[in-house]
Amino acid sequence: MRSLIDIQELSTDEIDRLIDTANDIIDNPQRYSEKCKGKKLATLFFEPSTRTRLSFEAAMYDLGGHVIGFSEAQSSSSAKGESVADTVRTVGYYADIIAMRHPKEGAPMVAAMNSRIPIINAGDGGHNHPTQTLTDLLTIKREKKRFDSLTIGFCGDLKFGRTVHSLIGAMSRYENIKVVLISPDELKLPEYIKQTILEPKGIEYTETTSLEEAIPTLDILYMTRVQRERFFNEQDYIRLKDSYILTPEKLVTAKKNLSIMHPLPRVNEISVAVDKDERACYFKQVENGKFIRMALIMMLLGVEQ
Ligand code: NCD
Repeated sequence: MRSLIDIQELSTDEIDRLIDTANDIIDNPQRYSEKCKGKKLATLFFEPSTRTRLSFEAAMYDLGGHVIGFSEAQSSSSAKGESVADTVRTVGYYADIIAMRHPKEGAPMVAAMNSRIPIINAGDGGHNHPTQTLTDLLTIKREKKRFDSLTIGFCGDLKFGRTVHSLIGAMSRYENIKVVLISPDELKLPEYIKQTILEPKGIEYTETTSLEEAIPTLDILYMTRVQRERFFNEQDYIRLKDSYILTPEKLVTAKKNLSIMHPLPRVNEISVAVDKDERACYFKQVENGKFIRMALIMMLLGVEQ
């Protein structure tokens, strides 16, 4: 039995196979409509979500399966003080696979150690978000037709942005990747990611506070929201929340084939005027998220393609 807690648990071949399956699902959805017939997915969301939870649920329905679960901690027994270990042990009697989001870093890993069914980490605190990364990888592959030789700018809250941490981990395995880290000083990428991923893999990276300076060099611009819920102090959030706002004017110097990505939800960091730009990919990411999650559920349940 296998879970997915960190994107680094997947080999490059496995990522390629998941992407191939997702592309095949996009082309032939009917072929997959009964693959998980009789199976149940439990979505255990201890933190807010729109896309991740609903795309997991839609994915399981489109595979012919069923969904149970809760969408806030307050409606589960964790509000009474139940441990994550006991919750997943319980759910293991009712479902075949679990997608879990939790505000505490490491909670899905603890869950996996105590579970008899696969656990998918659907976001743990400011740590990791492997299924958003699979979504991002599918989008990059469809847009760029490759993973190698890309310059990727990550902009915004690089400290708490779990989607950034996981995507840097995934992209660092490909050849000739350059990373530009654009953030205020207070929200820089954590040292542990530089020390355990960027530096050992010899990835060329630069840090800057200027989005304008970085834009012309980029093939991909990955914008992120300032993660209000991870701040200790609301004043700091208010000071930093509008550090970067992408507008059509700022894109004048960008490459013609730039891909503008964002895991969403956005607050102010991309002006709605950018949505019309054909380089905007963030709603394509939303769409791709369901298909790659279908592929992942099948893989972890050991369902033949
Ligand atoms: C992200 C998350 O939850 O980390 N959202 C998502 O899953 N698409 C990004 C965010 O909340 O800013």
